[in-house]
Amino acid sequence: MGFILALDQGTTSSRAIVFNENAQLVASSQQEFEQIFPKAGWVEHRPEDIWNTQLACARSAIEKAGLKASDIAGIGITNQRETTVVWNRKTGSPIYNAIVWQDRRTAEYCDKLRGQGKAPLIRRSTGLELDSYFSATKINWILTHVDGARALAEAGELAFGTVDSWLIWNLTGGQTHATDVSNASRSMLLNIKTLAWDSELLALFEIPESMLPTVCESSGVIAKCKASVLGAPIPIAGVAGDQQAATFGQTAFNPGEAKNTYGTGCFMLMNTGQEVVESHNRLLTTVGWKVNGKTSYMLEGSVFMGGAVVQWLRDGLGIIEKSSDVQALAGSVHNTDGVCLVPAFAGLGAPHWDPYARGTLVGMTRGTNKAHIARAALESIALQTVDLVQAMQRDGSKPLSELRVDGGASNNNLLMQIQADLLGVPVVRPTVTETTALGAAYLAGLAVGVFESQQGLLANWRVDARFEPKMSIDERGALLDRWHRAVERSKGWANA
Ligand code: G3P
Repeated sequence: MGFILALDQGTTSSRAIVFNENAQLVASSQQEFEQIFPKAGWVEHRPEDIWNTQLACARSAIEKAGLKASDIAGIGITNQRETTVVWNRKTGSPIYNAIVWQDRRTAEYCDKLRGQGKAPLIRRSTGLELDSYFSATKINWILTHVDGARALAEAGELAFGTVDSWLIWNLTGGQTHATDVSNASRSMLLNIKTLAWDSELLALFEIPESMLPTVCESSGVIAKCKASVLGAPIPIAGVAGDQQAATFGQTAFNPGEAKNTYGTGCFMLMNTGQEVVESHNRLLTTVGWKVNGKTSYMLEGSVFMGGAVVQWLRDGLGIIEKSSDVQALAGSVHNTDGVCLVPAFAGLGAPHWDPYARGTLVGMTRGTNKAHIARAALESIALQTVDLVQAMQRDGSKPLSELRVDGGASNNNLLMQIQADLLGVPVVRPTVTETTALGAAYLAGLAVGVFESQQGLLANWRVDARFEPKMSIDERGALLDRWHRAVERSKGWANA
């Protein structure tokens, strides 16, 4: 039996899952860590928390599986993307907290660059929108605001990494500074056609090239762990950003195949094959993975608040005790009675890209109660996804025949039914909804021979549930119209 350890370092928790050669989950372990909000719109993590929780989960998953580290054939890493860590190469210590993908502190800097006409240059090279979501402006912020950072960077003493690089650095005891093409494509510094760092963009963002990691393929042995870290020199054999890994885990290998992940945010990725498709509707063009020398590209719609909307109902409003209670509360009413929630708590991502939009709740009457708000919250997750699908279709993609879903909130049957109703196409959930970790395991397992071939993985994908659309076209049209009116009201709020 061959085993792969998948490390899934997410926005709110670190997880580790052991898979066997039949792609079955053998054991898993998960730890949450602190979210730090120093100011409105700022979100940070302690890089040490990221590493310590990830390490603890890795050790515990191996133990729960009843295995020794030497039984693990390879490690696959997948991670929250864009989140930026800068550390000192000599000491291995971070010089600032990790600035998280949701952080909006560089919105004004982005405005300034937009005013200088830089957005088309950035889009042409990186396929991305000029937005504070991506790493480049976060690195610039750290170099500008941390005492002495710029001089150290120019002397070659600092390293930048997204979370995958930070984990690889620590797993190898500081021996390897690397990333994969999918994570690199989210830095806003990589030319996605040549897959090399773009010197013009490095100059624009004032980032010395010496800070950057080596860019590797997504499947292949990058390095071996330092034996003392997990108990054996396990090869690190697969790396991909979490949304790309989920697409791989869903085996969406062919052009036109898409998946939507309901995690903290909501991320829809459509495979466009080896073709770099440029969006005319403010979607992102991004690297999916590079396997055996072949690069697959994606169109991506990124929504910043997905499952996190349910957490807000629980922690912010206190109208449910645990996240799973939302289904019963929202299901206790047949509709929202005109209430519409736009969860722009961290601004709006695709296709609006407004860092100044803020959460907006409209349409309430004296008859409005918490069940209507809970239902409006679920609808908001589904409606944001509809906007992404429509943008993809305006970009010329084939009409979707079905939508493959995964991620924690995809286990909510009511949400999936609402999604099918509002999209007008069936929603299909696979038996394994841990597709992010599975994708990382596949990438690593292909490199070390635990899985034989990419085509062979297709047989592992099985349907758990299928949700057929039931809503009339008129009703759908009315809900979408109301939603778009509400979205317009949310825009620009924090910029007054
Ligand atoms: O781009 C951000 C994304 O990678 C975060 O994913 O699963 O933490 O919502 P998640």
